[in-house]
Amino acid sequence: MTAMTVNERPVDFALDPATPLLWALRDAANLTGTKYGCGVGDCSACMVLVDGEALRSCLITLADAEGRTITTIEGLSRDRSHPVQQALVAEQAIQCGFCTPGIAIAAAALVRRNPDPSEEDIRAAIPNLCRCGVYPRLVRAIQRAGRVTRRAETISAAPAPGIDPADAARAVPAMGGGSAGTEGSSGGSSEP
Ligand code: FES
Ligand code: FES
Repeated sequence: MTAMTVNERPVDFALDPATPLLWALRDAANLTGTKYGCGVGDCSACMVLVDGEALRSCLITLADAEGRTITTIEGLSRDRSHPVQQALVAEQAIQCGFCTPGIAIAAAALVRRNPDPSEEDIRAAIPNLCRCGVYPRLVRAIQRAGRVTRRAETISAAPAPGIDPADAARAVPAMGGGSAGTEGSSGGSSEP
């Protein structure tokens, strides 16, 4: 057993202590918000907070993480209300979204220690690769998150996770029942 705190809950992993933390989080704890990009420390898609520091979970073993406090994207906030999450949405700094959890984690660590980062500070602190090229928007979003953090600005809360089937039916009339046959379904959910 390897014990640690994950998203404010005590967790014992019954896995080989040499298992990368990334796999324990994704496959054993079902915290699939943390992404596997390269597995060798190049992309930062797998970043999590370890005692408040943004680290690549593919490079950390369970043994390395024993006794430490881990925060994944699922634990950054309960309702997407973290300033970084709000600013990423507000600045439309998300395209396919694969890199976004790792970027949000790295940015959260940055604005916590420096809520007024320059563009150079951001480029130095965010090593994350983004195939969609959101970098210019990312700088704006992280600086905006900094302003929210230091209470120089507010952003209205991001939408709640998921889509209510009734809302989907209003937006897409074909989903309102009849031939589409989806009325009353749970609406389905996909991997975060
Ligand atoms: S998956 Fe960890 S750095 Fe790419
Ligand atoms: S938004 Fe697609 S990889 Fe970054």
